[in-house]
Amino acid sequence: MKSLKRKFHYEKLDSTSTFLKCRRFSLRNFTFVSCDYQTDGHGRLGRTWHSNPKENLLFSLLIKDEKLIKNFSSLSICSAVSILKVLKNYNIDNLSFKWPNDVYVDGKKVCGILLESVSDNGKLSNLIIGIGINVNSKQFNGEYIVPPTSMCLQLSKDISIDKLKKQVYRQLKKEFYLLKKGNKEYLKIAREHNFLKDKQVYAKINDKLCKIFVKDIADNNALIYEEDGIENQIFSGEVTFHI
Ligand code: BTN
Repeated sequence: MKSLKRKFHYEKLDSTSTFLKCRRFSLRNFTFVSCDYQTDGHGRLGRTWHSNPKENLLFSLLIKDEKLIKNFSSLSICSAVSILKVLKNYNIDNLSFKWPNDVYVDGKKVCGILLESVSDNGKLSNLIIGIGINVNSKQFNGEYIVPPTSMCLQLSKDISIDKLKKQVYRQLKKEFYLLKKGNKEYLKIAREHNFLKDKQVYAKINDKLCKIFVKDIADNNALIYEEDGIENQIFSGEVTFHI
């Protein structure tokens, strides 16, 4: 039987995304699960996502809606734009969107997003959007390619995780509704806050390291870049950056 509940919170989970993946058959579209601490939190490229208990917002969202699933590449940008909008309301300056799905403040990472697809009987059936927002962490242990920051470090005050969670849930619901209706405002915001725009970066594209100049984000959500004077596009999943 399907659970009617759509919001869950736990003290401790292995990972909010793994939780949804394992229970996807009994849960409804847009089920939201958060926790205070993950014992096996994961990020992109098989990296570990560390977060001390009760310091940050860790959650995942289950997407079963076929129209949204087909919009995979829009969903990752739309999720990041939703978070960016919520953080903007906290008067955090210098927010940017790092294509395809991170949110930066002052060039430091404040939020990471991991989109995972699940197939059943060979058919893409569900998407799981896992999001970690650094809220009240004051120091970060470990090695990072991009330096991390938190809302608290940027604003010099502690933030209520519960209040933030409600705002984030509401914003994601609103943005996904607009996305389903064909609204492309999320792309405008992403372009206006495009961290990589006009930057020369190293990108590993399909396992080959290339020096590219980033130009813009295309209507199909790909990143438009130039390499040796030739314009091209990359899709998320094909690339890792070395800035
Ligand atoms: C990244 O930047 O590499 C993405 C990080 C995503 C981390 C979140 S925390 C909540 C959810 N559960 C996980 O195990 N990962 C995501």
